[in-house]
Amino acid sequence: MQMSAIGLGLDTTFDDTSVAILRGKREVLANLTLSQYQDHEEFGGVVPERASRKHLEVINQLIAVALKEAQLDFSGIDYIAVSNHPGLLGSLLVGLTIAKSLAYTLQCPLIGVNHVEAHPYANVLTHGEMPFPVLHLVVSGGHTLLIQAKAHFDYKIIGRSLDDAAGECVDKVAKMFGHPMPGGPVVDRAALEFYGDTYDFPRPLLHKNGHNFSFSGLKTAMLRFREKHIENSSTNGNNPKPLPEEGPVLASFFQSVLDVLIHKTFKAAEINGLKNISVSGGLAASRKLRSAFEAEAARKGINLFYPPPNLCTDNAAMVTCLAAHRYEAEQFDDLTLDAFPNLIT
Ligand code: KG4
Ligand code: ZN
Repeated sequence: MQMSAIGLGLDTTFDDTSVAILRGKREVLANLTLSQYQDHEEFGGVVPERASRKHLEVINQLIAVALKEAQLDFSGIDYIAVSNHPGLLGSLLVGLTIAKSLAYTLQCPLIGVNHVEAHPYANVLTHGEMPFPVLHLVVSGGHTLLIQAKAHFDYKIIGRSLDDAAGECVDKVAKMFGHPMPGGPVVDRAALEFYGDTYDFPRPLLHKNGHNFSFSGLKTAMLRFREKHIENSSTNGNNPKPLPEEGPVLASFFQSVLDVLIHKTFKAAEINGLKNISVSGGLAASRKLRSAFEAEAARKGINLFYPPPNLCTDNAAMVTCLAAHRYEAEQFDDLTLDAFPNLIT
C-alpha cells in the first residue's frame, strides 16, 4: 500500500461545505471550507433543506479549486473520503453522492468517515501521530464527547452530553443576547475581556453522573436570568434598573461551561490513568478554553494537544486524515455506503 497516497475528502455534515486534499497522513495540499452561516441568518438557525441546496451549489467548484491549489487533476487522486455520519441527512447525502460518483468514475477506494471521530485527527495534522492511550474531548456544535482511545479505530465513548452540546448551549445563549451564529467567538471575546466570577451560574452535573455532561439547565438558567432583569428594568416605573452589562454575564456563563468541561475531562483522565488529553471541535477554537485547559494540564502534569482554530471548526482535512489511516489499514467501503443522521460507533 502506498504510504504517500493522495486522498480527496469531502465534509458536508452540517452547514459548512469543505473539501481537502491530503498527501500521506499529514501533508495538507488543500483545505477549503465555505461557511453557510450568513445564508441561514434570517431564519435564526440552520434550515436543513437550504443547507443541502447550498452544498450542492458550491461543492463541485470547491473540488475544482482544491485540485488547482494542489496542482493535481483527478488522475492524481488515490482514494475518496467522505463524512457519512452524523449530520443533517440531506447535507450528508450531497457529499456522499459526489464521493461515490468520484470513486466509481476514478475506480478508486471509497472511505466513509464518522465526522465526530475525525475531529481529533486535526491534532494528528498539527502535532503528528497520537500518543496512545489518549483521552479525546470533542466539543463541537453538535456533540460533547469524552472518548478513550487505545489505538486508531479502537476507542470507546466514556462520556457524552445527555442533552445540549456545550457548543450548542454557547450558541443559544449568545442568540438570547442578540448575537448571530456562531455564538462561540462572541462569548470567547467576553470571557477574555471580563472576569468570569461576577455571577454564579449553575455547573450542571459537576460531581454527578460519571463522565456525562448536561448543558440545557445552564441554558435555561441564562434565559431566566435575562428575563428577570428585563422584567426588573421595564416594570420599575420612572426609575428603570439598567440591564446588567453583557460582557460579565457572558464571561460568567462561559466560566460555568469551562469549569464543567475541565473538571469532567481531567477527572476522566485521572480515573482511567490517562496522561494525554486531546481537545478538538469548534469550541476548542476558544482562546479562553485553550488557556484554561493549558493551565489545568500544567497543574496536573498532563500532555495537552489542541489544533489551530481553523482545524478546530469543521474541515475536510481532519476527515481525510482519519481516512488516510483507514486507507493504510485497507479498510475500504463500497458503493452501498449509506448516510446516517445519528452518531454510530
Ligand atoms: O466543530 P464545529 O465547527 O461544528 C460541528 O461539528 O458542530 O463547531 C461549531 C461550534 C459552535 O458552537 C461555534 O460557536 C463554536 O464551535 N466556535 C467557537 C469558535 N469558532 C466556532 N467557539 C469559540 N471560539 C471560536 N473562535
Ligand atoms: Zn464538527
